[in-house]
Amino acid sequence: MLSDTTRQKIGALIGKYPQRRSALIPSLQLAQSEAGYLAPDVICEIAEIFDLSPNEVYEVVSFYTMLYRKPVGKYVIQVCTNISCLLCKAEEILAHLEKRLGIKPGETTADGKFTLLEVECLASCDTAPVAQINEDYYENLTVQRIDEILESLK
Ligand code: FES
Repeated sequence: MLSDTTRQKIGALIGKYPQRRSALIPSLQLAQSEAGYLAPDVICEIAEIFDLSPNEVYEVVSFYTMLYRKPVGKYVIQVCTNISCLLCKAEEILAHLEKRLGIKPGETTADGKFTLLEVECLASCDTAPVAQINEDYYENLTVQRIDEILESLK
């Protein structure tokens, strides 16, 4: 369930846009910041606020990789495997992460520290291969660099 505070913030967001629906994605991000992901009941609440069907909101949530439909780890590692990154050995980076963390894309480590995701273009093709960990970009990745990054994440 959304808190009163989040409901008030969503109301304020809606007021900033000429069309109510324009506030949907930032509102989903706000809702996600409360519980770490968007549970089905929260999606229904948001749908009600926006006068949309739950399915319409679910379509948005399932499209954007920054919106999570299940709990995620402390660090969400999104590895781009689109064409530029693929040509620069992104598959090697992803395979290394799978082996090192012992999980496949879409999974979270047992200690809840890392979630691994394979994503489409992160819009930094000139610095491929690229991964995003939470809000930060990591570019020109190598297996050695990804190991250093993992060590730095406490
Ligand atoms: S293809 Fe990876 S950032 Fe664009």
